[in-house]
Amino acid sequence: MSNKKAIKRIAISTGGGDAPGLNAVIRAVVLSGLLRGWEVYGIRDGFHGVLLPERYEEGGIIRLTRDRVHGIAHLGGTMLGTSNRNNPMAYPIELPDGTIEEVDRTDEIVRALRLHHVDALISVGGDGSLAISNALSKKGLRIVHVPKTIDNDLDKTDATFGFDTAVGFATESIDRLHSTAASHGRVMVVEVMGRYAGWIALHAGVASSADAILIPEIPYDIRKVAEKIKARDKMGRHYTIVVVAEGAKPAGGSAMVVEHKKGKDERLGGIGEQVAKEINATTEKETRVVVLGHLLRGGSPTSLDRLRALRFGAAAIRALDEGHDGVMVALAYPTVKYVPISEAMGQMKHVPVDSDTIMTARDMGITFADATKE
Ligand code: F6P
Repeated sequence: MSNKKAIKRIAISTGGGDAPGLNAVIRAVVLSGLLRGWEVYGIRDGFHGVLLPERYEEGGIIRLTRDRVHGIAHLGGTMLGTSNRNNPMAYPIELPDGTIEEVDRTDEIVRALRLHHVDALISVGGDGSLAISNALSKKGLRIVHVPKTIDNDLDKTDATFGFDTAVGFATESIDRLHSTAASHGRVMVVEVMGRYAGWIALHAGVASSADAILIPEIPYDIRKVAEKIKARDKMGRHYTIVVVAEGAKPAGGSAMVVEHKKGKDERLGGIGEQVAKEINATTEKETRVVVLGHLLRGGSPTSLDRLRALRFGAAAIRALDEGHDGVMVALAYPTVKYVPISEAMGQMKHVPVDSDTIMTARDMGITFADATKE
């Protein structure tokens, strides 16, 4: 879509789980917008700033000046706040009888932004936020989406910011576990984020020389993990490192859910504990579990993620300036491109099971405990 109407004022929001690099996106958007003479505003906590403005002393939509984004590119989190609850497309409202009804409040967002004379929105977020961007775009809001997830599972972009930071931290953590695992002759099970895709587990696992990697794309057979542990014992390696993505599942089983949310992503967790229990039961080896969880979302973005985030932010402004509308900024090595939001949403980028990284792992003797392989 194209929209050549002159822009005077834009807004930016960050939604969904945070990822290192969000502040760098905000900084690039603000500086590139100001350079064009545009006013830039930030919406607080996803879309809460628009839907619940009374919550904020300073208002739910704040003016972003050069000073306000000074020195933030290297900081984790998001200065605007974020939320992965209360999706405006299915916003929970309590009825007088105490029951909860979900209502679509996207019209209110469009109206509120018009009232604020916002000509265009830059929405930064993952798959859930992409669906919201698509709905807002269909309602006539001029919009450019910036993809975000540490899980690296968004389709139509070669990569997202946050992933490199998460992989770097997981790698360093697993590196540290080698020596304690070896000293005690234990099995260490490390659970990392990765709801539907095993990118973090795969990359960190290979980089840190794990012995087994369990990912959602390759259903596992715990007996294969036990075989690996026993084979290592025979070689005189009395310890084993097993990396497990939170969405990994045994053959014929399903991912471990800690909280079911109606119509939304379930909250996963517990697979590391489960795998450790089964390993202990089948091998009798002492086993410990480390859940890296939200540590992977925290901290300073790596320089790679910072640069990616800055490039995405500046590209989003260029997209608006060039008249693009309803598009997502995407990385297409070595450059960035714009893809229609409608084409990018609803699709996951899974680890291709025949990828060279998987083959590299196999060539190095790392097992995926494939249930289907002898
Ligand atoms: O989307 C990133 C992610 O880190 C997933 O891997 C994980 O399942 C989810 O966020 C957890 O989010 P939260 O605990 O914030 O709801």
